[in-house]
Amino acid sequence: MTYSIIELATDVPTQLEQLGTKTKFWYRDQNGQSMLFKEGRPGTGENWAEKVCCEICHLLNLPHAEYDLAVWKARKGVVTPNFVPEGARLILGNELLAKIISDYDEAARFQVRQHTVRVVMKVLSSPGLAVPLGWPAPTVIKDAAGVFVGYLLLDALVSNQDRHHENWAVILIPDKGVFFTPTFDHASSLGRNESDQTRMERLSTRDKGRSVEAYVLRANSAFFSTKASSKPLRTLEAFLEAAKIRPEAADYWLKKLAEIDYEKYMAILARIPDVEISAPARDFARRMLEINAERILQSWSNINI
Ligand SMILES: Nc1ncnc2c1ncn2[C@@H]1O[C@H](COP(=O)(O)OP(=O)(O)O)[C@@H](O)[C@H]1O
Ligand SMILES: [Mg+2]
Repeated sequence: MTYSIIELATDVPTQLEQLGTKTKFWYRDQNGQSMLFKEGRPGTGENWAEKVCCEICHLLNLPHAEYDLAVWKARKGVVTPNFVPEGARLILGNELLAKIISDYDEAARFQVRQHTVRVVMKVLSSPGLAVPLGWPAPTVIKDAAGVFVGYLLLDALVSNQDRHHENWAVILIPDKGVFFTPTFDHASSLGRNESDQTRMERLSTRDKGRSVEAYVLRANSAFFSTKASSKPLRTLEAFLEAAKIRPEAADYWLKKLAEIDYEKYMAILARIPDVEISAPARDFARRMLEINAERILQSWSNINI
C-alpha cells in the first residue's frame, strides 16, 4: 500500500517559519497537534526523499522527526509534528557553537570550517544534555554524542549532504532540562536531484567513473576535519570520525544497519506513490543505499581488524 498524502485545508496556515530555505508554515491538525508544512521545490524529489529517510530512520531505531507526504493548495510538501514542546526553546547548532568558539561564523551555512565533527561531538557530550525526549535509549547509547553517531551513519547511508549547523539542535525545556533533537531535514539525499537520464546512464554504464559506486564516493558532508582543512569531509569520513570517538555507540548503530535486509529499502521506495517518484529514481536510490550500506560496514570492519 502506498504512503498516504495528507491534504491540508486551504485556510490552514497560521504562522510562517523563517528558518531554513524552503516555504513552510505551522498549523494545528484536527487533533490540535502543532504541525509544520514544508514545501518541496517542484521537480526536486525533496518530498519523497524526506519520507524515505524517515522510514529508514525507523529501521535504524534512530530518534527522528516523523514525516508524511502532504499537499496544500496544489503545492506538494511534507508535514511533520512539532518536536519542540509548548514553552520550550529550540537552540540550533550554530547558536551553541558560537557560545564556545569566539569567531564562529553563525550566519554561513556551508564551508564553515569550524564545523568539525570533533567540536560537535564535544558539545553533544556536555553533562546535562539528555538524549531526545521520549526516546527509549538502548543501554549502550549514553548521551547525545552517541545518538549523533547514528545521525552521521544515516547521513552516510542516504548520502545526506545537508547536516549543517541548523540541522542539529537541542531543546531547552524550562524546569525539565536540555534534550538533543531527533534527526530532521533529510531532503537533500538519495540522488533526488539527478535527472532520470543521468540515473539510467549511471545504473547501466561500464565506465567505472560514471557508476553509482563512483557517485556515492563524492557525497560531501557539511563537516570539516579541522578548521585548517581545505575541503569538507565526505559523508562516510564524517561518520568514521564520530565513530572513533564513541566506538560502542558506533557498534550499536552498525549492528542496526547490518540487520536491515536490502529488500526493505525497495519496499519503502515502492510505497512512494508513482506521481511522486519515477522508476529510475527508485532504482537509483536503492542502489545508493545498497552500496553505501556495504561500504559503511566494510570501512568499520577495516578499522577494527
Ligand atoms: N518537526 C519539527 N519540529 C520542530 N521544529 C522543526 C521541525 N522540523 C523543522 N523544524 C524547524 O524548522 C527549521 C527548518 O526546517 P528544515 O526541515 O530544516 O527545512 P529546510 O530544508 O528549509 O532547512 C529547522 O531548522 C527547525 O528549526
Ligand atoms: Mg534545515
